[in-house]
Amino acid sequence: MHEEITSVFLRQLEHIQEQGLKKEERPIASPQDAHIVVKDREILNLCANNYLGLANHPAVIEAAAQALKTRGYGMASVRFICGTQDLHQSLENCISRFLETEETILYSSCFDANTGLFETLFSEEDAIFSDTLNHASIIDGIRLCKAKRYRYRHTDMDDLECLLKNAQKHRLRIVATDGVFSMDGEIAPLAEICDLAETYDALVMVDDSHATGILGKGGRGSIAHCGVTGRVDLITGTLGKALGGASGGFTSGRRPLIDLLRQRSRPYLFSNSIPPIIAAAAKKAIDLIASAPELRNRLLENTAFFRKGLQALGFIIKRGIHPIIPILIGDPVQTQEMSRVLFKAGIYAVAFSYPVVPEGQDRIRVQISAAHSREDLKFALQQFENAGKSVGILAPT
Ligand SMILES: Cc1ncc(COP(=O)(O)O)c(C=O)c1O
Repeated sequence: MHEEITSVFLRQLEHIQEQGLKKEERPIASPQDAHIVVKDREILNLCANNYLGLANHPAVIEAAAQALKTRGYGMASVRFICGTQDLHQSLENCISRFLETEETILYSSCFDANTGLFETLFSEEDAIFSDTLNHASIIDGIRLCKAKRYRYRHTDMDDLECLLKNAQKHRLRIVATDGVFSMDGEIAPLAEICDLAETYDALVMVDDSHATGILGKGGRGSIAHCGVTGRVDLITGTLGKALGGASGGFTSGRRPLIDLLRQRSRPYLFSNSIPPIIAAAAKKAIDLIASAPELRNRLLENTAFFRKGLQALGFIIKRGIHPIIPILIGDPVQTQEMSRVLFKAGIYAVAFSYPVVPEGQDRIRVQISAAHSREDLKFALQQFENAGKSVGILAPT
């Protein structure tokens, strides 16, 4: 590359480095689980989306292994050419049954589900109302669409109502929100959103990536948790978190909308099908969730224990019930240092700073799993106390 061109990018990298914000990847040499091996050392993992511990569950692995033997490795095609196996259709039906929706369409990721949704279903005549803290993939999906965009202040129902009231001229309206906000573990006020949507004749779309399999009756997500089953028109979700943790995503909801996505949604039409091993393993994960409530119960108990422990130590956390626990620090360098000290002590807990969270809201985001034992969590609390004192977040004793 031309030297002057290269220097443009190098300056940006230097700027990030000067701020102490360079993200480093730490390669893991083991399966994803409560304990992982990094640089030949076993450490406790507190930052995976492996909420139910299914990423390395024997039954899920066995389902994947069987699919590998009987259906092969790759599809080498998009769905509508020759990339649809019985396993794909079976998983789509399984998700619809699980979420109590009419129809489901699979994507390579939830990012794709979100970017393939809005531009397919909405046009210049329509309006989209989006929470300011929605996930990047919803934001990008809305950017690709020609509909008028309205951003309402985070979970502010008065602001949403005001915007909806003034947008009645549009042909269609849709409110789009995360079910659980991924940086905060905060559950969206879905009952109020559905009420407003009904009053002002709007559709509702919920990205439930961080709630499917975890929250609500039977693990049916934030929609079940908030008591709005049947009132949400479109649900997007990932197979990359509680549902086995590999990759893949979906949109589930009203049949005509899903049928239209299957005809026109660009990431669905122009990107390969998920491999058979994922289709089979994700279905097994959903079957396990439906038949084994103890996994979810253990996750919720572990979460309550760890939240209580952090608060007792004096950390400032965002309150709630979700296994995402943000420990607020507010300074990027101190947050990075805390993560480094924890790592040395055998705890993998990553620092989050701008642009992943707003400036001044730097944090360590912990994610609890059903795979964690009580001993793991006690050990983690001890290390958080030590690190908090050494970095100056907690007062020394
Ligand atoms: C709310 C939300 N939506 C979508 C995604 C993207 O999911 P996937 O990894 O399946 O693309 C994520 C993942 O971080 C997420 O947190």
